[in-house]
Amino acid sequence: MGDKEYYPPRGLRDIVGREAYVYEYVFNEFRRISRLHGFQPVLPPTIEYYRLFEEKSGEEIKKTMYVFEDKAGRLLALRPEVTASITRIYLRKLRGEVKPVKLYYVSQCFRYEEPQFGRYREFWQGGLEVIGVKDVSGDLEAAYTASRFLDALGLKHKYIVGNVAIHRSLMKGYGIPLDVQDHVLHLIDKSMIDEAVSVLKKYSIEAGMAMKDLLSRSIDELESFIREYKDVLVDVDRVVFENERLIGFITSLRELGYEAVYDPGLVRGLAYYTGLIYEYKAISSKLRISIGGGGRYDGLSTVYGGPYEYFTGLALGLDRVILALEDGFSLSRGLDAVIILSTDIPLSYGLRIKSLLEDYGLSSMMVVVGKIGKGVRLASRKAARFALIIGRREYSSGSVSVKDLSSGVQVEVSLEALPLYLYSEAKT
Ligand code: HAM
Repeated sequence: MGDKEYYPPRGLRDIVGREAYVYEYVFNEFRRISRLHGFQPVLPPTIEYYRLFEEKSGEEIKKTMYVFEDKAGRLLALRPEVTASITRIYLRKLRGEVKPVKLYYVSQCFRYEEPQFGRYREFWQGGLEVIGVKDVSGDLEAAYTASRFLDALGLKHKYIVGNVAIHRSLMKGYGIPLDVQDHVLHLIDKSMIDEAVSVLKKYSIEAGMAMKDLLSRSIDELESFIREYKDVLVDVDRVVFENERLIGFITSLRELGYEAVYDPGLVRGLAYYTGLIYEYKAISSKLRISIGGGGRYDGLSTVYGGPYEYFTGLALGLDRVILALEDGFSLSRGLDAVIILSTDIPLSYGLRIKSLLEDYGLSSMMVVVGKIGKGVRLASRKAARFALIIGRREYSSGSVSVKDLSSGVQVEVSLEALPLYLYSEAKT
């Protein structure tokens, strides 16, 4: 390449070295815990038709989408999120499954945003979606699974919880058009409360006043708010149901030992939410932005031509989870062993040792060297735990010289005893 340097496009990253290991570790933990909680994997395509996101993504996300035409003139987009794809995939492929259908994914998403700390143009989401559960148990099972994953990483976190059902029902009751409702929620999401209220007041003074009132209520005052506005609110029964869901969600999370607070100003950037919404924040981290978010999107299936169905779910921003972990996180293990083979030993011998170790979940790398000392130096530069030396003497006696690179102690161990020896030593 000469002296010309090639960079990835702005906002995109090359993830290598220790960071790449951390990413892999976090992805695997997310998958492991999701499966333990009964979620099944799904791998949606990275590129979708633009129109999949067009209607229900919300203003902010639509503005930041990578949209392009393919060679056949189809209007496509790099996915900015995965929930729309999940709904589409459910309708196309999973409708016949026994409900509830519970899915997880680890997928990269793309948003053309201004890059800054914790905000990238390509980032990774670990998502959980529950299909076919009407009551709060579905919301809780997804949220709790995400919490167990964060707990497994040692990341203290809290929930900020809201409920857009009241906001929407109120605006509908005052006859506010749907696109204006979306815009008002977008303004509230940006903490532009005064602007949101004045947009509403253009349509109805009372609507503006009522929204201001709603945004000032605590969770204990929501029931009385619903009573006071029952003649305006559309579908009061559903609003009451969603309010009970909100309270049930917060109560259960608190019983499980998590911090969960109600925020009337939380509306989230996506337009498909119909009720409960929440965000995850890392506690005692320099990262102030959300590390994840989710909520109810009942009926999104009808937007894609399917029957009405219950949906709830969330996505964690895995890049942000990793940032929030900072230095308080160490990989449990790097490379266990470097197998050092002198040049006159059959390669198959070294490779067979690799498979012995693999059976015990021990990782290894093999090098062939003229001088053993060179191999040992390389093993310590690779930060391996052990150097396994096989010269002529070890080969003919069916043994391996094991050098513990942290203590410097070297012992000769027979091939049969090797895996168990390493396994028990690696644990100390
Ligand atoms: P979202 O809040 O737009 O929700 O994104 C979820 C998470 O992705 C955010 O909380 C954040 O951690 C991460 N994230 C978003 N944008 C960026 C970025 N530019 N750089 C790094 N991380 C980012 C959704 O996408 C919904 N689909 C979540 C959901 C699933 N709702 C129901 N099911």
